Amino acid sequence: MTDRPVPCHLPDRMPKNDPAIPGARDARAEFTTLTLDRRRFLVMLGGAAVATTLPAPLVWAGRAVERVNLQPWTLPESLPAGAHESIAALVGAAILAPSHWNSQPWRFEMDGGALRLALDPARTLPGCDPDQRFAHMSLGAALENLLVAARAWGQQPTVQYLPWGLSSRPGAPLVAASLTLQPTDTRRDSALFAALTTRRSNARTYEGRGLTAAQRAALHSQVPDELRLHWLDDKRDIRRAARTVGDAAVAVARDSRARADHDVWLRDGDGDARRRGDGVTAERLGLDGPLGWFAQRSLHKGGRLRRWSLGLLGHETEELVQASGALALLTSPRRADATGILAGQAYERLALKATSLGLAQQPLSAATQSEPGRAAIARAFGVTGEEPLLLVRIGHAKPVPATPRRAVALVTSWHRA
Ligand SMILES: Cc1cc2nc3c(=O)[nH]c(=O)nc-3n(C[C@H](O)[C@H](O)[C@H](O)COP(=O)(O)O)c2cc1C
Repeated sequence: MTDRPVPCHLPDRMPKNDPAIPGARDARAEFTTLTLDRRRFLVMLGGAAVATTLPAPLVWAGRAVERVNLQPWTLPESLPAGAHESIAALVGAAILAPSHWNSQPWRFEMDGGALRLALDPARTLPGCDPDQRFAHMSLGAALENLLVAARAWGQQPTVQYLPWGLSSRPGAPLVAASLTLQPTDTRRDSALFAALTTRRSNARTYEGRGLTAAQRAALHSQVPDELRLHWLDDKRDIRRAARTVGDAAVAVARDSRARADHDVWLRDGDGDARRRGDGVTAERLGLDGPLGWFAQRSLHKGGRLRRWSLGLLGHETEELVQASGALALLTSPRRADATGILAGQAYERLALKATSLGLAQQPLSAATQSEPGRAAIARAFGVTGEEPLLLVRIGHAKPVPATPRRAVALVTSWHRA
């Protein structure tokens, strides 16, 4: 087969124009004249074949779900007047943050003059994130988005980090941080602010081109003193680390508790993800070749098929990581209460900076999901003795579209002072 574009007709199940979905109109216009490159065409063929092997509830699950309101990927230039409007704008910036499996495990509570950021326990992944470190990183990323927007809108934020287990009211979600704002004359973080709506986790194959020293330094400067950022940019070192990450991905796929979480958050295509407003498609995980897609979907099957799928998954992951321009490992010299939140904040600043520099990035949580995985990646980076928090691959790649977010109104509550 050649790389010649294959014409594609508008499928019946395309979502209708929806003002709540940013770019929905453009996307539809695009689809009427869509051409598919060879890889995408194969995905569709693979997808069609595999759909017939999926159990009926999985195939039909997406259609039974009611469509949730989505948050647009736009932000106002300045902080709107009015208490409700300004909080809605700040939360609107926060929820454009990345989150583990796009689970969006956040709640925002406006209580008197303070805005509280809380963990929604129903949106954590007990199987692949038992100590909730990735959930806390997701909260940290949302907090950092909120702080970036506040500073760019001329506000001076003050954050109080709260010990885990604190709840503002009986039965309410656990509060991670509390935030107050004071107006100032200075506007800061404007470059990062511009990246809030364009940042993406990019799971494509990268071009292999390295980073410049200036780019690395700019990314490095986003990490606070409490944490460390370690780099691999030598091709041989990256190849060795890629094997470690491939092994980690296989270890996660072998874990039945982690697979149970994947079943909850893996979406049956972009339409399904938009309808529910959360979750991740196989394509967004970088498993967009037909073989990778098949591996992801057939991991539950037994015997030889499962062994074959695991091998394939490890191989696809290794190849993706090998093509990185650089690998960055965020670590902590010691673990404390707010480490997860701080790590999420640092990761998000790095992701926003990368976006403003025109670089693609993708976190690879499998590498730091388990104790043996963390030990292995620490060895690959030569940083044994530190606590590995999150591995990120960085490089050059074609952009990817935005993923859905549940609207502000679905994640915010207001209480009287
Ligand atoms: C703590 C954390 C861990 C993540 N781990 C992975 C990962 O292992 N693989 C991956 O493709 N994306 C990972 N992501 C990215 C999410 O899948 C992504 O943020 C989500 O799907 C929303 O897409 P967006 O970042 O493009 O807005 C992670 C994000 C966070 C915050």
